[in-house]
Amino acid sequence: MSSAAGDAGDGGGLKPLWGGRFSKGPAGEAHALGVSLHFDVRFASEDIEASVAHVHALQDAGLLTAGETESLVEALRGIWGEEDDDIVVELPVQDEDIHMLHERKVTEALGDLGAKLHAGRSRNDLVVTDFRLWLLAEGVAIAEDAADLVRTLARRSRETADMVMPGFTHNRPAQVVTVGYVLAAHAFALLRDLERLDQWSARTSVSPLGAGAIATSTLGLDPAKTAERLGFVRPFDNALDAIADRDFALEFLSVCSILALHLSRLAADVARWSEPALGFAHLDDAYSTGSSMMPQKRNPDVAELARGKAGRIAGDLVTLTTILAGLPLGYHRDLQEDKEPVFDAAETLELVLPALSGCIGTLRFDAGSMRAASMDEGLYATDIAEALVIAGVPFREAHRATGELLKSLAEEGRGLRDLHDDGWSAFGLKDGASLLDPDASVRARNMPGGPAPDRVREQCDAIETAVDTPWS
Ligand code: ARG
Repeated sequence: MSSAAGDAGDGGGLKPLWGGRFSKGPAGEAHALGVSLHFDVRFASEDIEASVAHVHALQDAGLLTAGETESLVEALRGIWGEEDDDIVVELPVQDEDIHMLHERKVTEALGDLGAKLHAGRSRNDLVVTDFRLWLLAEGVAIAEDAADLVRTLARRSRETADMVMPGFTHNRPAQVVTVGYVLAAHAFALLRDLERLDQWSARTSVSPLGAGAIATSTLGLDPAKTAERLGFVRPFDNALDAIADRDFALEFLSVCSILALHLSRLAADVARWSEPALGFAHLDDAYSTGSSMMPQKRNPDVAELARGKAGRIAGDLVTLTTILAGLPLGYHRDLQEDKEPVFDAAETLELVLPALSGCIGTLRFDAGSMRAASMDEGLYATDIAEALVIAGVPFREAHRATGELLKSLAEEGRGLRDLHDDGWSAFGLKDGASLLDPDASVRARNMPGGPAPDRVREQCDAIETAVDTPWS
C-alpha cells in the first residue's frame, strides 16, 4: 500500500503504549525524530503475518484460548481492511512505527484481549522478523528482473554471435571480437549476481521471532514452530544475535552493490557504442531522450542513469556499514536507520533492471560500422605474432618482429594491406591484405570460452540453462 506521511508527529503529550513509567509523552520534536512509520509502513503485511504467527505461539503456550486466538487474528487481519493497494492512506501521526500502529489498532478493537498481543515479544525481534520477510520477497523480485535481463542479453548475444566488432582494452582497439561475445560476458557477470542472491536468501531465511528484547521470555514459546509458520527455513540460534544481527541487510546491500556495478559497466558499453562518433549501435527512441535546447540530440539517459545509480547503491552499503560498525551487541535505536538504505537499493534496482533490459532489447546494432572499424590493422597484430609462433618463432621474438614491422610500415606511410612480397615473405606468411579478415580472425580464436561464433553460441546455451535452473 502506498502512504502519505502525516504532519511531523507531535506526540501531543499522549503517552505511548510504553508510557507506564513516564509522566508525559515525548516532546513533539523527539517524536518527530523517532518516527519511522512513514518508511516502515512497507512492512504492514509482514508485521500482520508475524503478529498472527506470534498469536498462535501464545495459544500453543496455553496463554490464549482458541476463541481469543481467533479474535486476535481476525482483528489483525482486519486492520487494513479490504483496501485496494493503490489507495493512499493518511498515516496516523501518533504512532511511532508500524508495530505500535498495529498494536494500538488491535487494542482499540479488542480492549484487554488486544493488550495480550505483545506478551513474549518485543519490537526488537518483531522488526527484524518483518525486515527479513520483506527482504526475502524483494530478493525474489530483483532476481526475477535480473534474470529477465540475462535472458535479453543471451537472446541478443545469439543474434549477434557472428557480428564482428573491435574489442577494446584501455579503450584502444585490441583484437577483433563479436557483439555476441561481449554481451555474453555481461550476462555471465549477472549470473554470478543471481547465484549470490540465492546464497544470501538461504542465509537470510532465519526467524528471529521469540527472541524478545534480548533474551527470550519465560512464556514457553516455540521459535521453531513460529519459524515454520512464517515460512522461514529455521529459527534463531541465540536471541541476542537474533535481535542485533543485521548481516542479512548488509549482505543484501553488498550483493546489490556488485549487481549495480555490473549494470553500470553494461550501461557504459551501451552509452559508448551509441556515441555518434563510434556509431556501433543506435538507441531506440523509447530508450533515449532529447535535449531541451539542442534539437539534434538523442541522449543515452537510460544507460547513464543505470551507470550513475551504482554510486548511489554503493553509498547505501557504506551507510549501513557505518551505522553498524562499533555498535555494541544488543538493540540500539541506531538500528532503525538500517531500513532506508536497503529500501533505496532495492527500489533503485527495480527501476534500473527493467529499463536497461528494454534499452538492450531494442538496441539496433550497426553491423556495417562495426565491420568498418574492425579493419583497423592494429587489431590483427596479435594474430600475426601468433601465426609466427605457430611457424616456430618464440613468442617474444614474434612480438618484437611484428611490432617492428608495424613501426616501419607506419614510418613509410604504408599498412599491412600494402604488403605483398617485400619484407613480408621473411615471415613466411601470405600477403598482408588476406590477413585483414575480421571473420577469419574471430573464427580462429575458437578455444572454449573464446569469441569464435560457435563458442559464443555455446556460451549462450550455458547462460540460458543456468538462468532457468534453480541454484539450490
Ligand atoms: N522502529 C524500530 C526500528 O525500526 C522498532 C524497534 C524499536 N525498539 C526499541 N527498543 N525502541 O528499529
